[in-house]
Amino acid sequence: MEIIRSGDSVHEIDSDLIVVPVFKGETADSGVLATLDRLTEGWVRSALASGEASGERDKSALLHWRAGALARRVALFGVGDLDGSNLLALQRAGGSILLTFTSAAVKSIAFVLRGSIDSASAARAIVEGAVLSQLDYSIYRPNGPPRPKCDRFIIASERSVDGLEGAIETARILADATNFARSMGNEPANVMTPVEMARRSKEMAEREALEFEELDEDEMKRLGMGALLAVSRGSAEPARLIVLGYKPREAASSGMIALVGKGLTFDSGGISIKPAEEMDEMKFDMCGGAAVAGAMMAIARLKPKVGVLGLIASSENLPSGRAYKPGDVLRSYSGKTIEVINTDAEGRLILADAISYAIGRGATHIVDTATLTGACVVALGEVRAAVMGNNPGLVADLIKAGAECGERLWEMPLDREYGELIRSDIADMKNSGGRIASAITAAMFLKQFAGSVPWAHIDIAGTAWLTKAKPYMAKGATGFGVRTLTGFVLNRAAGRSA
Ligand code: BES
Ligand code: MN
Ligand code: ZN
Repeated sequence: MEIIRSGDSVHEIDSDLIVVPVFKGETADSGVLATLDRLTEGWVRSALASGEASGERDKSALLHWRAGALARRVALFGVGDLDGSNLLALQRAGGSILLTFTSAAVKSIAFVLRGSIDSASAARAIVEGAVLSQLDYSIYRPNGPPRPKCDRFIIASERSVDGLEGAIETARILADATNFARSMGNEPANVMTPVEMARRSKEMAEREALEFEELDEDEMKRLGMGALLAVSRGSAEPARLIVLGYKPREAASSGMIALVGKGLTFDSGGISIKPAEEMDEMKFDMCGGAAVAGAMMAIARLKPKVGVLGLIASSENLPSGRAYKPGDVLRSYSGKTIEVINTDAEGRLILADAISYAIGRGATHIVDTATLTGACVVALGEVRAAVMGNNPGLVADLIKAGAECGERLWEMPLDREYGELIRSDIADMKNSGGRIASAITAAMFLKQFAGSVPWAHIDIAGTAWLTKAKPYMAKGATGFGVRTLTGFVLNRAAGRSA
């Protein structure tokens, strides 16, 4: 999809459809609505008055134009009571508009920036939503129901807006990177193995001029990554620790941010096996890793002045005669020992070794993201991800970066007492504290590997995929985290903190 900006006025815009956003309670007294009303001989006024286009979110009215303008159609699209600050609503509107109107006849759509939504960040939100809506997952059903694609999306603004072109370009980069992560996430586990995650990451790294390394199991054995390797033991698919490196031409700070992702390509639970129901969804258990790959792709293109290390711990978790077992005691890469209580608490094990590795590589700040706990889904559902950390400033910066891109985070506490739940009698800690506070105890576990390095953890178990399509996005992987992690890195490089 081509995205362009146009300074034409409505009657000059050349596209199959012009979409004009309308807010609740609007009338056609001035501005573009009045102009359009004249051009359409009173249609706008009557559509608003009759409630056909009430401004209610996702509610729209469409008119086929006979004369008076270049475009063939015009739609009034309800965006609710927007004050211009609700960027998430705009992002979703961008997606809904494309999914609602694109058809065999409508291949180019112009969106008119207007009213209070005239800023570059509004354009960014709309373009992001538009690009995100264009990804579907039909590669295994090429002859399935046809999905019309939009060829051309036009951001129309008669008035000049500072930084509009740049905002459109940034939005495109962020949404393309998010779609890259989503495509990885959507692949079934028989395709998206750890080796395949590494291959796709490498392909991306070469394209984007990032440094790439992968640690295979022999290398991990040599290093003593007993936690990651234990999880992988039961599977015939070999594990990988994927390393992506971004080094800026000139750095504004001497720090290095590590982004660490859980790339568990299939989580059966292992010997502590999961129930069959919905187990298929555990192909999405690598979405944290995919988010790191996507963020690194965006970072490579947006070039912040700070070094970033992307680490993806990738493995399967399966039961077999070789699998690790409840009761086993593991020696992690850090030297800390772990008593395995539940082999389904595997994500924290592979992340533990990746976090230690990040510290060994000189990370000064660590952010991990993972589909880590069912408890996070119970607590926050599909709306917000949980964030926890050992450094309030880091957590605040992540919440801010999330709010700026429409990925909402909610902090959960890490009081010392929660640590008692994962105390072991025979090892330094156990890998499960049971059912209570289990999103928190998972983070308490990881915290011990971060030591004194500022670290935060984002649990995306509820937000990483959609089980049902939304009006603005196909079902499947959402790419949650790509834009938060990228925005966080950009903010930090520019010295913007919460
Ligand atoms: N990948 C799962 C977490 C998960 C569950 C993500 C449902 C998305 C939806 C993770 O590896 C897991 O199994 N966690 C266990 C931990 C427990 C055994 C302490 C959980 O949350 O049940
Ligand atoms: Mn598990
Ligand atoms: Zn898992």
